[in-house]
Amino acid sequence: MRRIVFRVVELAVVVMVVSALAPGLVRGAGKASKAVSPIFGIPVPEGYRNWTLIGVSHRTDNKDELRAILGNRKAAEAFRKGTLPFPDGAAIAKLAWKTEPMPEFQGAFKPGAAPRIEFMVKDSKKYATTGGWGFARFVDGKPADEETHKSCFPCHEANVKGNDFVFTHYAP
Ligand code: HEC
Repeated sequence: MRRIVFRVVELAVVVMVVSALAPGLVRGAGKASKAVSPIFGIPVPEGYRNWTLIGVSHRTDNKDELRAILGNRKAAEAFRKGTLPFPDGAAIAKLAWKTEPMPEFQGAFKPGAAPRIEFMVKDSKKYATTGGWGFARFVDGKPADEETHKSCFPCHEANVKGNDFVFTHYAP
């Protein structure tokens, strides 16, 4: 019994020390950065890693990268049903990784370093001049500059205007 009491006290001390030394670890665990993208004012959305997988892509144009496109609940529903335009509140994430050979198996590739994460958030009033979409790119947790953010909409507009400015379709 004394041993159990001792264990409990010991555990309580460990928890106290950890919370004192690393408050971020205990309270803010997994909290996304609050820095926002220029022009659009979008932070890294909380919980985006748990959004629904919409599709994947592989780009070889300038960098060999693997990408995963995720959607929050509203976006995922619209993707599934093929509803256009996307409703306000829909948000899409694009995660990218350097393509890296898998050491365990020749010819297999795995995600390596993550050079950036990107988001599109629908708010038809707030972002009326960019097709209703706000854009955000983060590199190492920091928002990319204003110049970069000016380039987002023109490319999406030039290529996929007819699909509410979204390239990705729900993967079969
Ligand atoms: C030169 C063209 C180009 C520019 C500039 C561009 N994108 Fe894209 N974007 C694409 C293409 C192509 C895809 C789909 C394929 C892929 O890259 O995986 C895409 C896909 C996306 C997606 C997933 C939804 C979708 O449309 O399929 C997001 C989110 C996104 N881009 C955000 C951004 C942000 C934020 C910026 C600016 C910082 C940006 N993009 C600039 C070409 C562009």
